[in-house]
Amino acid sequence: MSETASISLNGKSYELPVITGTENEQGIDISKLRDVSGAITVDPGYKNTGATKSAITFLDGEVGILRYRGYPIEQLAEQSTFLEVAYLLIYGELPSSETLLDFRKKISRHTLIHEDMKKFFDGFPSKSHPMGQLSCLVGALSAFYPESLNPNPSEEEENLTIIKLLAKMPTIVSWIYKKSLGHPVIYPRNELNYVHNFLNMTFGQITEDISIDKSIVSAMHKLLILHADHEQNCSTSTVRIVGSSNANLYASISAGISALWGPLHGGANQAVIEMLENIKNDGGNSAKWLAKAKDKNDPFRLMGFGHRVYKNFDPRAKIIKEACDEVLEKLGINDPVLNIAKELEEAALKDQYFVDRKLYPNVDFYSGIIYRALGFPTDMFTVLFALGRLPGWIAQWKEMKANKEPIGRPRQIYTGSTTRDYVPLDQR
Ligand code: ACO
Repeated sequence: MSETASISLNGKSYELPVITGTENEQGIDISKLRDVSGAITVDPGYKNTGATKSAITFLDGEVGILRYRGYPIEQLAEQSTFLEVAYLLIYGELPSSETLLDFRKKISRHTLIHEDMKKFFDGFPSKSHPMGQLSCLVGALSAFYPESLNPNPSEEEENLTIIKLLAKMPTIVSWIYKKSLGHPVIYPRNELNYVHNFLNMTFGQITEDISIDKSIVSAMHKLLILHADHEQNCSTSTVRIVGSSNANLYASISAGISALWGPLHGGANQAVIEMLENIKNDGGNSAKWLAKAKDKNDPFRLMGFGHRVYKNFDPRAKIIKEACDEVLEKLGINDPVLNIAKELEEAALKDQYFVDRKLYPNVDFYSGIIYRALGFPTDMFTVLFALGRLPGWIAQWKEMKANKEPIGRPRQIYTGSTTRDYVPLDQR
């Protein structure tokens, strides 16, 4: 007999079905609760609420497990490429070499962006934040590809929109960077692989060809793979909920980019480096900053620490920390903020405040140090996160549509005034 859970309310008892996932996670299905009892559930921040059933990513925060479509993140980061992982997330299986080649070829045919899009770049003030530009430019793609507005496309049409977005994102990201420098943009080169092409458009010069070290390309693959999906987080839930209104893919991803921007989410990678710089400029006293993070009257938090789901360790942080050491050694960089980061991490992991609250370094704690070593300015870090997360957002949007999920529309408990009569202006 299948398991049920019961709720007693106002002297009545209600039996609710229990759903069990393939990893034996259990959820109480309350989808009929309001119909039968009149009551809703309240869960600020959705800490206990499953919004969907999903077959894309599994993570177990208690033991630090992360898998895409069943494959452990450690194996993918070590052995796969970003485009292969993108295919896996979006279409559900690892591609054969023929399928991967075809996927690559299709993407390389769509890497250019409409020349009129350059006018947007010209319109942004030179100091505007890259995330604001990215969100705007991705949303603007819908204007150039109006066929994407069709809420019921054929499979072929939907795939073309997906391919176009995957193809154009690296071009948009690298051009945002070029424009911030006042440099001419570099056009995509179809003979280069996805990640190499992105690095070439970002660090290449119109005046000469550059060669990018293999180890740098490989570190970038790893970083993007580690960011590629993370189940129902803030930005992904945003993508799904916006898409649930039948908004097009570009609009849904643009909304996800905005959600990612905040320092409590993807924006933490920028905030971590700014914090480490502040600590360095303040004399490098990590104990003082640790005390600030613990002080409830001080809004300061240790950026790059803590996670809504990981309560043991973030497996991505572990891989990134190793990659960080490798990249710094390869490039011969001795970054003083790395020492502060290591000192802070060590002190926090021993500190009772952090131990009690199960606060560990998250993916963002070390990623900024690698990005900096590779030559990216701080305000580009979250954009790189978005570039990595794109396949995950697309996969989740596609799954939401395939499942025919209803429009996302939470309820509320109203706490405002009860009914009262309007008072004309001259009597107030
Ligand atoms: N520094 C100091 N204290 C912290 C931190 C931190 N980084 N994170 C959580 N806490 C404390 C809270 O003050 C709270 O303490 P209390 O119980 O005494 O009130 C307790 O730990 C629980 O924290 P919540 O904010 O309730 O946990 P929540 O799950 O809502 O937040 C979050 C998770 C947003 C990631 C939080 O840990 C945080 O702000 N971290 C810093 C920002 C960051 O690194 N974000 C990136 C997350 S990873 C990602 O999105 C890619």
